Amino acid sequence: MPYAVGIDLGTTNCTVSVFRRGVVETLPVEGKTTMPSVVSFRDGGDVLVGQAAKARTLLDPEHTVASAKRFMGDREKTYQVSGRNLTPVDVASIVLKRIVENASKTLGEDVSDAVITVPAYFTEAQREDTKHAGEKAGLNVLRLVPEPTAAAIAYGMDKGKDQLIMIYDLGGGTFDISILAVKGNVFTVKAVGGDSRLGGDDFDEAVITWAAKQFKAQSGIDLAGDTSREGMKARQLLKEAAETAKIELSQSSRTNVIIPNCLGHSLDLELSVTEFNALCEPLLARTVSHMKSVLADAGLKPADIDRVILVGGATKTPAVREIVAREIKEPYVADRVDEVVSHGAALVAANFYLPEEDMLPIEVVDVTGHSLGIDVLNEKHEVTFVPVIPRQTKYPCRRGFMGATSRPMQDEVLMQVFRGEDVNPEKNAYLGELSLPVSPPRVDFVPIGSIFELDADGIIHFTAVQLPIGSASATLIDHAMKHNNELDLPVVDRLISSGKAKVRTVAIKT
Ligand SMILES: Nc1ncnc2c1ncn2[C@@H]1O[C@H](COP(=O)(O)OP(=O)(O)OP(=O)(O)O)[C@@H](O)[C@H]1O
Ligand SMILES: [Mg+2]
Repeated sequence: MPYAVGIDLGTTNCTVSVFRRGVVETLPVEGKTTMPSVVSFRDGGDVLVGQAAKARTLLDPEHTVASAKRFMGDREKTYQVSGRNLTPVDVASIVLKRIVENASKTLGEDVSDAVITVPAYFTEAQREDTKHAGEKAGLNVLRLVPEPTAAAIAYGMDKGKDQLIMIYDLGGGTFDISILAVKGNVFTVKAVGGDSRLGGDDFDEAVITWAAKQFKAQSGIDLAGDTSREGMKARQLLKEAAETAKIELSQSSRTNVIIPNCLGHSLDLELSVTEFNALCEPLLARTVSHMKSVLADAGLKPADIDRVILVGGATKTPAVREIVAREIKEPYVADRVDEVVSHGAALVAANFYLPEEDMLPIEVVDVTGHSLGIDVLNEKHEVTFVPVIPRQTKYPCRRGFMGATSRPMQDEVLMQVFRGEDVNPEKNAYLGELSLPVSPPRVDFVPIGSIFELDADGIIHFTAVQLPIGSASATLIDHAMKHNNELDLPVVDRLISSGKAKVRTVAIKT
């Protein structure tokens, strides 16, 4: 059987690993364990990826794309580079293609099967996009695995103890927090949370804002407002200088943000770790509030957590460690914080090619981070959001809601699908809709079922079904009355297969 690899498709860095000869190993790219998730287009059609592309961020910012993961799921976002119109999916697929080509070279065989990790807090659309990026890169995406779960697998595989662990993963662009119970080799996700727009990039941004303000006071130059090409370059230089300063502050108590020639002036600003910590405080506070709500969701107290594991490059910042120690407990720092996620993915991937007797005993039970549901009219005729799959539900799963037409002779029902926790659908994220024709329209209410399926990759499939009226639906109505409008799925499935219920549309495009 050919190998299947595990890929951590990070905002800033990408890592690929494989399980072979009984151990999991990172497959280096150009001698490094991680490859920058950067793509750069040169005149003449060359496409640079990784280290070479990152080096061009400064020289050629207009033709270089970084951090595309931040825009996964955003179907409006495009990058205009070198006369091309690229989506975040296109960019991610170029990165994936390159890292897999590298893996193939190292392994000496063509690799096309892969497990790719995604932030646990990624929405269905973001997951779909990640899967599409893999497919576009020519990969057979075996499974999408949440990053913290992957980290837990990599970490838990060599420990035999039952424990409750919290994974605090702060990468370049995303913050993920998960609580998992590890019992033997069964990993049960208890609760997940986080923010898909919070990471090391934001720490850089805090330093940039601070530096631009100081620089303006000193030189009168408004770096932030300068839209010229030079201004853009200067900001890029500042971004690099800010990241360098940040990384330095993980080791020392003070540093300087330096740009020898910044729009004709020299920028040299001293930054102490105390000042830096103050700049990061609002970001750290956000991670704390996510930690607290995830603990609350799992019904746990900080003392119940046996271990907090730090994952992701941004956790190298001492202030991050301190705040975790203060709020929960002294964290355990995994060795290879940059590789542990892809290691977990490689272990999951291995079970797709290992012969049965050699299979790794890993079992993952995952939960959703968001509620999924539809809008309905309540008794007071107000539009209300009903969660059909409440957040923290284990998946893969399938759940249904029993509703009905809301007026006589209604010939169509518009079903809108949302993600979120607010009773007001408008305050939740709109995912898509489908229109279900009701035939024939009736004076009486016609029962309508909504079925949500969340597959093993965390992607949602939505089905609407017109149910028969009268005695055929009697048991369904009875069940719904007793169970908070829940649709009795086995009964509905029988009605569908016998042709008594009409499935109008399946699978929603989000
Ligand atoms: N020594 C360090 N001190 C502080 N921050 C660091 C250090 N080393 C790396 N970082 C930061 O870590 C971030 C990258 O982390 P990582 O490689 O884990 O992210 P990623 O996996 O690409 O992103 P994500 O998981 O969010 O998609 C960058 O913001 C980088 O500046
Ligand atoms: Mg990461």
